[in-house]
Amino acid sequence: MNSTPSLRRRQCVAVLAGAAFLSAPALVAAQTPITVKFSHVVAEKTPKGMGALKFKELAEKKLPGKVQVQVFPSSQLFGDAKEMEALLLGDVQLIAPSLSKFDRYTKKIQVFDLPFLFDDIGAVDSFQSSPAGQALLKSMTNRGLLGLAYWHNGMKQLSTNRDPLKRPEDVKGLKFRIQASDVLEAQFRALGANPQKMAFSEVYQALQTGVVDGQENTWSNIYSQKFHEVQKTIAETNHGVIDYMVVTNAKWWDGLPADVRKGLSEAMAEATTYANKLADDINQEDRKKIEAAGKAKIQTLGKDDVAAWRKSMEPVWKKFEGDIGRDLIDAALKANK
Ligand code: LMR
Repeated sequence: MNSTPSLRRRQCVAVLAGAAFLSAPALVAAQTPITVKFSHVVAEKTPKGMGALKFKELAEKKLPGKVQVQVFPSSQLFGDAKEMEALLLGDVQLIAPSLSKFDRYTKKIQVFDLPFLFDDIGAVDSFQSSPAGQALLKSMTNRGLLGLAYWHNGMKQLSTNRDPLKRPEDVKGLKFRIQASDVLEAQFRALGANPQKMAFSEVYQALQTGVVDGQENTWSNIYSQKFHEVQKTIAETNHGVIDYMVVTNAKWWDGLPADVRKGLSEAMAEATTYANKLADDINQEDRKKIEAAGKAKIQTLGKDDVAAWRKSMEPVWKKFEGDIGRDLIDAALKANK
């Protein structure tokens, strides 16, 4: 039906008024920086802590006035127990949990926890860069989580409040703090030890008070959390890896203005290169600092000791092969040169 000239005029005024009305919040949005909260559980002088600060610096430089990144280290904003839910609720925009902490969202990611799967962090890096590793970044979008990058920490060492700590028999019956991972639980059960899932922020006190006897972690986490001050021996087992996935809320990410998403992606790529280059150096330096502190003894292992640990932990592979998938395990194994 044709509208009368006066109706058309009224419609036109309404459209213009609407445009003016709509442009006001759009302008505010353009002027107000988008706040990106990045929460993590470790100290600032760690691979993840330094990576997060680098991301802030780069993102704010690439998107001046458009983005403000706030970094919250040391479980200040959210600890292990809450950070995933907080991300899904929109209370935080970036987190970087260890790969061990995602098994509620995808079973496949458990591949990273298989003991003695990777020879070193170089192999971990190759697997993460492979098509199979990259696919895992997108494997949780149906649960609202989008992986933006992998960040390295390093290989895990085992510590206890006992001496000796050299052979698998030495940990029989001991209580170990573990991250929230069923694979790690099975790993300690295979050793005849008693694993206890616990948030990272509670580990120091649990070690100090004897709630647990030991734990497994990287040199960087051991040093920055002072675990070496409340442990007797650290065995250099390199039996597994602690690395991270930087994840965001998939809906939030998709809803960002295109230029902001592009700038944040670039900042993430550069921060990833920076953090991953740094990780090994930080771990080696922290190992030296632990040695110099002279509190916990560092126990190096011979070839047959390593073989014994490997053999004791072997049943874990069989137990999780079905959930993870043989092809993914093979793809990871291929990364060992
Ligand atoms: C742990 O819980 O031991 C680690 O995953 C902490 C971290 O984020 O490195």
